[in-house]
Amino acid sequence: KIAQLYAQAEELGGSTVTVAGWIKSVRDMKNFGFVTVNDGSCFRDLQIVMNRETLANYDDIAHQNVSAAITATGTLKLTPDAPQPFELTAETIEVVGPSAPDYPLQKKRATVEFLRTQQHLRPRTNLFRAVFRIRSVAAAAIHRFFQERGFVYVNTPIITTSDCEGAGEMFRVTTIDPANPPLVSAEQAAASDGALTAGEVDWSQDFFGKPASLTVSGQLNAENFAMAFGDVYTFGPTFRAENSNTTRHAAEFWMIEPEIAFADLEDDMNLAEAMLKYVIRDVQERCPDELGMLNKFVDKGLIDRLEHVASSDFARVTYTEAVEILERAVADGHAFDYPVSWGIDLQTEHERYLTEQHFKRPTFVTDYPAEIKAFYMRLNDDGKTVAAADCLVPGIGEIIGGSQREERLDVLERRIAELGMDASQYRYYLDLRRYGTCPHAGFGLGFERLVMYLTGVGNIRDVIPHPRTVGNAEF
Ligand code: 4AD
Ligand code: MG
Repeated sequence: KIAQLYAQAEELGGSTVTVAGWIKSVRDMKNFGFVTVNDGSCFRDLQIVMNRETLANYDDIAHQNVSAAITATGTLKLTPDAPQPFELTAETIEVVGPSAPDYPLQKKRATVEFLRTQQHLRPRTNLFRAVFRIRSVAAAAIHRFFQERGFVYVNTPIITTSDCEGAGEMFRVTTIDPANPPLVSAEQAAASDGALTAGEVDWSQDFFGKPASLTVSGQLNAENFAMAFGDVYTFGPTFRAENSNTTRHAAEFWMIEPEIAFADLEDDMNLAEAMLKYVIRDVQERCPDELGMLNKFVDKGLIDRLEHVASSDFARVTYTEAVEILERAVADGHAFDYPVSWGIDLQTEHERYLTEQHFKRPTFVTDYPAEIKAFYMRLNDDGKTVAAADCLVPGIGEIIGGSQREERLDVLERRIAELGMDASQYRYYLDLRRYGTCPHAGFGLGFERLVMYLTGVGNIRDVIPHPRTVGNAEF
């Protein structure tokens, strides 16, 4: 692997090595030539030098197209005076799989929009090599962060019958044929005490015996496990049928959801801040080449910003204070599209103002009005706000949504009734408040939003291997 060559160049210099990879460029200088290959093991390429005199199939290789798969064997020659620390003097080069001349990514700098139409090939570009290496390293760092702290990793279900966020943004999972659905009969309706209406779809005949959907969050399931293991986390795919065609929303995205028992909102924010800093430090350490490229070509302030975030304290402000800050900005002449007043759901423009212009660092906004937040958040003593904490970051806005959970059975039951939710769907959830309830908290980190933040990439479609967004589910 090319990564090994870089790691052990001193020892391997002068010895014979074999590499297998894909051609990035070929330069034919008549009597000798250069083939650059990458095998994906690291960001850096390997330069292979070939001589017409010693390489039998020189002309064949010199005519290979970009992205042909080859294996090359030769001597690793250290080149202390050249920009790259070594090159491979080829003894043999074998074409494993040629690349057709219409390979679509010939040009050095294709736009990200064009590359989205080449989902199968874009991982071979420098940009996507960097992004997806960082995505992988960040995922491993998150697991390590929680595992080092004794958290139990819980795999929560993807198919669910409860709507955690209560926003009605679920994708239905069904085996019912829409062209020929079973319907509730008049007799069934009459016998159901008003629960069923004749002529509506009879969900009891669906696969699970009731309506099921793809999960929007593993939180409710994670809470069950936190009440047994204390500290747990999930890390899995979640789905939202949000009709928002933005650069930050995907229909399928991954979420990290820790849940901690005997803990309050401050513990929750401390955990979130420590986790983000840990991941940044790990990516800085393991991906210097990738960050260097992204800093040069994608986001010029990336490296400095990550360092700043990893080494400074996040701001913490209540929703009420945040609204005051925004109102003062308006009084000073700052124009927002969406008018600011206490009670509004903060829009991206407001979030970005707070974190980019006012605090100039990641910012937790806490204690939102109960009306704009989910049913499970703990009601504060003022009776109108809840113990929520969203983490906003410059360039993106919200990357984490978290809260202390309502652990008091009576308050939770009242809230569920107020919202007109079907309490029978939440039987397990309510039960937890009967059998050894305790203060607990958790949060959800949108993994793609984190990867955008770590790479400086501005569109969520470019940090997901195969993005699913409104109107797009290719491949
Ligand atoms: O704020 P949200 O909706 O919170 C929850 O789902 C809670 N149940 C989490 C918890 O407390 N365990 O979503 C959490 C995060 C958001 O801050 C955002 O980063 C990300 O998930 N997110 C999305 N990312 C990409 N595309 C979407 N459509 C997203 N919706 C939410
Ligand atoms: Mg949220």
